[in-house]
Amino acid sequence: MIRNDIRALTAYEVPDASGLIKLDAMENPYPLPDSLRRTLAERLATADIHRYPDAAMEGLREKIAARHGVSPAQILLGNGSDEIIQMLMIAADQGACAAPSPSFVMYELVAKWLRRPFTAIPLDEHFDLDADRFLQVVGREKASLAFLACPNNPTGNLWAAGDVERIAADFGGLLVIDEAYAPFADRDHLHLVCEHVLVLRTFSKIGWAGLRLGYAVGHASLISELNKVRLPYNINTLSQIAADVLLDHFEVFDEQAASIRKERERMQRALGAFPDIQTYPSQTNFVTIRVPDAGQAFRHLLERRILIKRLGGHAMLENCLRITIGTPEQNDQVLEALKELYA
Ligand SMILES: Cc1ncc(COP(=O)(O)O)c(C=O)c1O
Repeated sequence: MIRNDIRALTAYEVPDASGLIKLDAMENPYPLPDSLRRTLAERLATADIHRYPDAAMEGLREKIAARHGVSPAQILLGNGSDEIIQMLMIAADQGACAAPSPSFVMYELVAKWLRRPFTAIPLDEHFDLDADRFLQVVGREKASLAFLACPNNPTGNLWAAGDVERIAADFGGLLVIDEAYAPFADRDHLHLVCEHVLVLRTFSKIGWAGLRLGYAVGHASLISELNKVRLPYNINTLSQIAADVLLDHFEVFDEQAASIRKERERMQRALGAFPDIQTYPSQTNFVTIRVPDAGQAFRHLLERRILIKRLGGHAMLENCLRITIGTPEQNDQVLEALKELYA
């Protein structure tokens, strides 16, 4: 009844975080301000939920397009950027999908679901990307689709602009530059968008994880092809209304992202001062560290009611932990807990 390769998979696991300081999923730690919550509630009360949602979402796409100075025809909306990753894997030419490794797990997982061969191209020991090697392997494997997470999850770093640009210029297939962490990074790649290069964004990390809204910015002809594999009404009415309201108050989220960036710098410095902790550069809203015993550190933080992510399943991530940047108070609690182990 069910394919054997699907049976062999394990479902994506989300740990129960009730009662814990939740620093495992790169969410924004700041809830919506009360005044904005009230405005949102008033607008949500007008929702016609007995009708299907607006299928074309012209207004919402216009608002998002205006933020980037592109046309609405260049915007594709997804139920999270995860859904757009799936659309890309469905629609792209047959052939392998390639991505550096380690990187975002959904690229490989969705490729497996759709029986698309997956080529993982290892990063070096600093989690850096070798563009020559990348281009050589995608050429050899005849990859038709490639993902570059810029900055990368779970390593946190942003690969050199020249390397990303060279891959964009020389890769013969469809290149997806996944900018889930753009609000926390020093640069983006929207200027690279063309017939074969697409940029992926999400609102999840800047404070709207619960809405499930991501988008692609691409050439209008590419977006119109991808739109053919978008399930009808993929963005529900409540998310559409909420996004419309929140986009009019984006300064709130820009400010929060700025304080998260500041806290990230403070955390990097504080974590770097522990002789037993190796830190990696981050341009995201999380820091990745290597400790002598990740299991012990994970359990110790959990005892202090702090949930972080223990990175596993990859030889290069042995004893690595990924800590989402929280509020200053939450970050202090992380540092206190780590001091108990490593001071
Ligand atoms: C690199 C990267 N891309 C995409 C996503 C998925 O985001 P969304 O919540 O929009 O599905 C994530 C989430 O962690 C991510 O790290």
